[in-house]
Amino acid sequence: MGRRGCVTRSLLVLAASGVLLLLLLLLGLLSPPSSLYSESASVSSFLRVPLRALNDFPTQQQQQQQQQLIPEKSKSPCTTVGASRWVEGLPTLYVVTPTYPRAEQIPEITRTAQTLLNVPNVVWIVSEDADTPTPALTRYLNESALSSVYMRVQMPAQYQKVKNKPRGVANRMAGMNWVRENAKEGVLYFADDDNTYDIRLFEQMRWTERVSMFPVGLVTKLGVSTPIVREGRVVGFYDGWIAKRKFPVDMAGFAVNVAFLLQHPEASMPFKVGYEEDGFLLSLGIAAADIEPLAFNCTKIWVWHTQTKKNDPATSVTQNNATIGTNLDVIKDLLWKKPPGSRKEEEKKGKK
Ligand code: UGA
Ligand code: MN
Repeated sequence: MGRRGCVTRSLLVLAASGVLLLLLLLLGLLSPPSSLYSESASVSSFLRVPLRALNDFPTQQQQQQQQQLIPEKSKSPCTTVGASRWVEGLPTLYVVTPTYPRAEQIPEITRTAQTLLNVPNVVWIVSEDADTPTPALTRYLNESALSSVYMRVQMPAQYQKVKNKPRGVANRMAGMNWVRENAKEGVLYFADDDNTYDIRLFEQMRWTERVSMFPVGLVTKLGVSTPIVREGRVVGFYDGWIAKRKFPVDMAGFAVNVAFLLQHPEASMPFKVGYEEDGFLLSLGIAAADIEPLAFNCTKIWVWHTQTKKNDPATSVTQNNATIGTNLDVIKDLLWKKPPGSRKEEEKKGKK
């Protein structure tokens, strides 16, 4: 009897430890590898520009008021936007986005950022043409999981006055110079904030050896601007506005290898409306035959010159007893108002 009891007890202990072992094993299998997370976190914090000095944080009183309006369970998703990935061995993409304050800025930046969140090994250089940093923009970048760099560079005064401005040139060049100073390899791409990008394009362009090109949709009445490719070689260009350009392409239609860019320290973009792309590509000293056609020999359209309808600045919110103490207290500060004394809004877009 005593012996039998002892055997039963041993069997029970054995079974219990078996169950425990199985549980531990399952837990181990289910929990994600911690290295994935720490890796991407270290990459994003390494490149994130400290923006705290920008003084764009709400006052304590404002913060308290906002906290009261946000229910406890919905607070956490406000602190981070998506999850950027870093994969060992993939060339880095340096995406330079010129932007400027206007009603559509945050929507455009949100769209571009969330496209890039689907692309591994991206450094996003956001270069703002403004006289002071836009708090909503810097806040967005700080909250985003993307490895981003913020800089602010204004359009030179002499161009601000003219009707048809060379848009995004000074800030694009500043972004490019950051790449020159901080990278030795990888690929540079100029991505305007208002285009639409298919992420397959980024996967192909990151292997650019010198200069690659691809079609851009919604350009001119032809509906597309693309290199003409025969047997894997660029033999011409299909674009609605050739205008004696050697490279009649859109800004979104090419990518440049960083090592190749560094071999051309003089390469630059002219402040000449419509000729920015051509001038830049000429300054890189390439011939049409050197161009690497992507998107399956330019048979796919993976980027569009979408253009967004212009919206007027919001009229100011007038509050009354029924709205004070509601979400409108917060929403009113999210609406874009033209800062007093800011540059005259852009005229109707002419060319192209
Ligand atoms: C087209 C091309 O897509 C641009 O790459 C090119 O620079 C421009 O023409 C030109 O030739 O001037 P488009 O769509 O007509 O661009 O111009 P926008 O989208 O208004 O501006 C291009 C980029 O520059 C955008 O990312 C925009 O945010 C930025 N931008 C625009 C500024 O940084 N400052 C401005 O005053 C205006
Ligand atoms: Mn545009």
